[in-house]
Amino acid sequence: MCGIIGYIGKKNALPILLDGLRQLEYRGYDSAGICLAKDASLKIVKRSGKIKDLINAIKNRKDLGQANLGIGHSRWATHGAPTNINAHPHTDCSNGIAVVHNGIIENFVEIKERLIREGHKFTSETDSEVIAHLIEEYYTGDLEKAVLKAIKYLKGSFAIGIVSSNEPDKLIAARKESPLVVGVGKDENFIASDIPAILRYTKKVIYVDDGEIVVLKKDSIKVLDSNGKVIKKRVDTIKWNISSAQKSGFTHFMLKEIHEQPRVLSQIISSRIKGSSAIELDGINLSGAAIKRISNIIILACGTAYHAGLVGKYLIERFTKIPVAVDVSSEFRYRKPIIRKNTVVIAISQSGETADTLAAVKEAKSRGATVISICNVVGSSLARVSDGILYTYAGPEIGVASTKAYTAQLAMLYLLSFYIAEKKGLLRKRVKRFLIKEFKSLPEILQEILKKKEGIKKLAGKHLNFGSFLYLGRNLNFPTALEGALKLKEISYIPAEGYPAGEMKHGPIALIDEYRAVVCIAPDSAIYEKMVSNIQEICARMGKVIIVATEGDKEIRRFTGEIIYVPKTDELFSPIVSVVPLQLLAYYIAVKKCCDVDQPRNLAKSVTVE
Ligand code: G6P
Repeated sequence: MCGIIGYIGKKNALPILLDGLRQLEYRGYDSAGICLAKDASLKIVKRSGKIKDLINAIKNRKDLGQANLGIGHSRWATHGAPTNINAHPHTDCSNGIAVVHNGIIENFVEIKERLIREGHKFTSETDSEVIAHLIEEYYTGDLEKAVLKAIKYLKGSFAIGIVSSNEPDKLIAARKESPLVVGVGKDENFIASDIPAILRYTKKVIYVDDGEIVVLKKDSIKVLDSNGKVIKKRVDTIKWNISSAQKSGFTHFMLKEIHEQPRVLSQIISSRIKGSSAIELDGINLSGAAIKRISNIIILACGTAYHAGLVGKYLIERFTKIPVAVDVSSEFRYRKPIIRKNTVVIAISQSGETADTLAAVKEAKSRGATVISICNVVGSSLARVSDGILYTYAGPEIGVASTKAYTAQLAMLYLLSFYIAEKKGLLRKRVKRFLIKEFKSLPEILQEILKKKEGIKKLAGKHLNFGSFLYLGRNLNFPTALEGALKLKEISYIPAEGYPAGEMKHGPIALIDEYRAVVCIAPDSAIYEKMVSNIQEICARMGKVIIVATEGDKEIRRFTGEIIYVPKTDELFSPIVSVVPLQLLAYYIAVKKCCDVDQPRNLAKSVTVE
């Protein structure tokens, strides 16, 4: 949801900014812009459209030349349409201060009205423009002081980068509830919304915390608290490299990330299971006694992570006997939720920056809950506000439609439920050994499923023209149905709905005719027969079924030839196994429809606005 980048150093800033913006484009891609600070003036280029449109516009600007300081922005519109004028950077009245902003200034109307009364002239419809004018209002020759004063008036969320033509040796950044990292280089320094944007240049980073302001020069970095007091920050070293954030020969990030799933699971297994079956979840930060005291668990998440949470409910209740409620983060916080003395909240988020999940977690904490997070991005806001953190370490996920993060979240939820059950004395050794053995076979099983991709591609080709899809599953695979439908609608724009198969007769059955594609998730399980009855009901009404079934299930062939067989596993693990063919099906349908798979319209990878 918008990406910002900034550079100060000895090199030409422009290619660094554009390269950074390409890496950040997944965060927002409806317009983009850059500002170069050069010869006591600011040169700005902004364009609606993708980064490539900005690059084309830059090619026609022969006046840009070389500059060693600059900021850039890739936008996901909130206030004002994605036009050239609304694109960032935004400037003050004199075009002497330029600002890029990720987040939302909630009180911008009030600030704007005040500044207009004081004579400021605004050009855009954005909330962000007020920041530039507010800094101008307080500028008396010291940018640092003006920024410190201005941001005290801002309500909402922001990660901002600021340059001024009066102080061309300085890049200033500030953060509140939107992600921001500082890249530490030699004779150069960077700011960015996310690490891949700067990883080509440095692996040393400082995570900026809420309320902090950073003053960067080419050879120094000063971090201030909101009162202007200098604070000492730790410099972290990033352990992964830029190739993790590139397509590596795949046509799309989404396809690459689908293929990474066996490796991600293997990594989770090797880092979290020691010896034959000892589960290590140190980050949970809860003693055995505290675990025994847990009265109830509330899982909070959005989007795909919410679907992982729904699977988590089945697992945790089954193994630990602790009641679990799962809530969409944006609903939870406005409902005056009941938190007991020993309530544990599990927040699930790939990015760790989803504004709704962060707000829900803050609400839960303020009511006394202990918060454990399952998160992919190290050092993210969610990780920092949680009492315990279980990282999925799936590597950067760039495709907007989440795939490997989902299976990694599921994997962590399996381990977490086994872990809690064991601490409560509810998991017999023999059962645990069996579960871990099955769990360890998952990477190989996923590899087998990936080998079927050509067949799934053909199936996709046959189903392009269906006007809508229904996904049905039961029990542990009801969330799989939701996730399969979400993948399809996100990237192909075909209306798709996920439903518990047992509920079909209470509504969706009215939709079924020969024009309706129905994806049925029917692996071998205790409720297999029930699923078969539902499939029968669909076929009787001429619905076109596609079935995900377990290898060896010949019976199912009487309904259709459109079957995706997955290897046999204990039904408990079927959500991980069954979702991969659905990811591939959605992917190939979207590709065949020539959709922009990695950057679907209107969506953003990291939703930092509520
Ligand atoms: C956006 C993304 C989804 C993601 C959701 C939650 O909608 O497009 O892929 O599932 O946000 O994101 P999080 O980072 O909290 O998992």
